[in-house]
Amino acid sequence: MQACSGAAVRGSVQQPIWTKGSNFIPKGSSVVGFPQHVKVNSMKACRCSCIEGGLVTGRPPSSVFVPEIGGNGSNFVDHGLSEADPEVRSIIDKEKERQFKSLELIASENFTSRAVMEAVGSCLTNKYSEGLPGKRYYGGNEYIDELETLCQQRALEAFQVDGKKWGVDVQPLSCSPANFEVYTAILKPHDRLMIADAVGAFLMMDMAHISGLVAASVVANPFEYCDIVTTATHKSLRGPRGGLIFFKKDTVLGVDLESAINNAVFPGIQFPCRENALLT
Ligand SMILES: Cc1ncc(COP(=O)(O)O)c(C=O)c1O
Repeated sequence: MQACSGAAVRGSVQQPIWTKGSNFIPKGSSVVGFPQHVKVNSMKACRCSCIEGGLVTGRPPSSVFVPEIGGNGSNFVDHGLSEADPEVRSIIDKEKERQFKSLELIASENFTSRAVMEAVGSCLTNKYSEGLPGKRYYGGNEYIDELETLCQQRALEAFQVDGKKWGVDVQPLSCSPANFEVYTAILKPHDRLMIADAVGAFLMMDMAHISGLVAASVVANPFEYCDIVTTATHKSLRGPRGGLIFFKKDTVLGVDLESAINNAVFPGIQFPCRENALLT
């Protein structure tokens, strides 16, 4: 098998690096992290150019032809958008100018921060992390687990919710799938959405439009009344595009909402979450 060093891969994920003639596995070295898959002494070293090409195209290194550029040993240049796709760059620039120059009165929209844009455009985009923290289907999720756990804590803190009584699924791609995931979790065929107390039903609130006001405690708190609360993260919260489902941890009407909702999100409706948007 062919192998590469972590340093070379890290470099090519973030920015091009010049690794002229480098062979990756020094004699006598050992690899930690995924020893069940890799037997070091059976590895054949390769030059980073193949690996860089493989990371970009997603194809195995052996099938990738990467032309030499410039002759300085660097054979892969990770261009910015202006060089890689000026047409798309120009459309984005026009949209940015439109947003800057026009008056937006659409209640569901907001202007997110530079910090959110930076995180959303990061290497988190590359990762698959199906399942929940500590229960993933793929390896390499130690930092995604850290991020998702942090996001859960922050989501509960943002609404001053007691983490012993409430849980949150932070994976919904936005609020519409979050709502559908709740219906998938608790409704059986032919069930209805009703007025809750009078008919002994679950009480759910979609607070997407007012979640910023709830977080700031300037409107009534739905967590005092509801069993389930959903929200988008990109409206009044001004975060990245995503959704949250809060659920009571205690059984409600005989239903364990935590597992019903988590299972409805994955594998019920979504497979991957958007790791780069786990930034509430
Ligand atoms: C109350 C409410 N819930 C959910 C949505 C859809 O949210 P998302 O765009 O996050 O799917 C909207 C859209 O504006 C909405 O008004």
